Amino acid sequence: MILVTGGAGFIGSNFVLDWLARDSEAIVNLDLLTYAGNLHNLQALEGDSRHIFVRGDIGDADLVTRLLAQHQPRAVINFAAESHVDRSIHGPEEFIQTNIVGTFHLLESVRAYWNALPQAGQADFRFLHVSTDEVYGSLNKDEPAFKETHCYQPNSPYSASKAASDHLVRAYHHTYGLPVLTTNCSNNYGPYHFPEKLIPLVIHNALAGKTLPIYGDGQQIRDWLYVADHCSAIRRVLESGRLGETYNIGGWNEKANLEVVNTLCAMLDELQPRADGKSYAEQITFVKDRPGHDRRYAIDAGKIEKELGWKPAETFATGIRKTVRWYLDNQQWAQDVTSGAYRDWVQRQYVA
Ligand code: NAD
Ligand code: TYD
Repeated sequence: MILVTGGAGFIGSNFVLDWLARDSEAIVNLDLLTYAGNLHNLQALEGDSRHIFVRGDIGDADLVTRLLAQHQPRAVINFAAESHVDRSIHGPEEFIQTNIVGTFHLLESVRAYWNALPQAGQADFRFLHVSTDEVYGSLNKDEPAFKETHCYQPNSPYSASKAASDHLVRAYHHTYGLPVLTTNCSNNYGPYHFPEKLIPLVIHNALAGKTLPIYGDGQQIRDWLYVADHCSAIRRVLESGRLGETYNIGGWNEKANLEVVNTLCAMLDELQPRADGKSYAEQITFVKDRPGHDRRYAIDAGKIEKELGWKPAETFATGIRKTVRWYLDNQQWAQDVTSGAYRDWVQRQYVA
């Protein structure tokens, strides 16, 4: 049995679905179901006794303590977080609350549980913390990609809160001996990605005949990783990662935002052409830049490859095609998640 937090969000739900498709080991899935958590993502698991969903907060010590005592997991994987940079700019408080305070309370509950385990259980136990490359800050065009030794220089309230949580996780290993692992991953894309983030937003808006907003000059670079590759990397780190170590996970796929959006438009032109025969690229609109916008992220995923033999299976070309097809085949999912609350957000963010 493992306990996953945030398993109704984008990456967490992909992880839960992948795990249960290849393994009989059960999952307790603790998720607060914020705007970003969505039980529709887990519909395929309805009636599957290996998936136990619990709605709740990682910061609720009584609840987490009870779940740990009841299910005796051999590992906790922490995906739960507030994850959207733009939202952290509008309102940082929830980021501090969940990503820092919540992670602290989770660590405390897990530490108490781990302390009480018999020696063999203690040795086998793992706490895996899922983090981001954004903690390292921004790179210039010619700088080498982030290695695990790169100093932390977070620039947004989101990345600062994730950096703080990474430091807490590290401290619980060094101070209390908690068997932790941390992964720092680049931008993910794939199924069940909430349409507030660039790739699903562009697909969603394109099909709805809306504008495709590009912040600033669109030359900011991200290193894209297909979400199933992230899930396989996490499984590998959980299996064989060295305790107390951090592992950078990336797709070796650096792309400028404008290139990503043009690729999406070309793919949609091919798979679902506009009724008027024009390209979706005509919907591209340059908008005001994000404050403090990081120019470039790039991950050097050499350590995880050398130490643990992990490499991504997808290139950007193969992953993005799968993603576009998934959104075309699952338009009802996007309709369902773009609720009133979503429309309020879009109004606030893009109509200024
Ligand atoms: P997401 O926003 O899609 O999902 C987050 C999930 O956490 C949601 O289901 C939400 O309901 C849940 N949650 C939020 N606060 C909670 C709380 N207090 N208690 C319990 N559950 C809570 O995020 P995601 O994109 O799936 O990211 C998952 C993790 O991976 C995050 O820690 C994020 O920082 C990290 N990460 C994401 C990316 C990316 O590109 N999306 C890249 C690198 C790292
Ligand atoms: P996003 O998906 O929000 O991820 P992150 O900020 O964590 O990297 O954004 C990816 C890139 O796309 C980032 O450089 C900001 C840019 N972007 C736009 O240009 N327009 C948009 O509407 C959004 C949401 C993002």
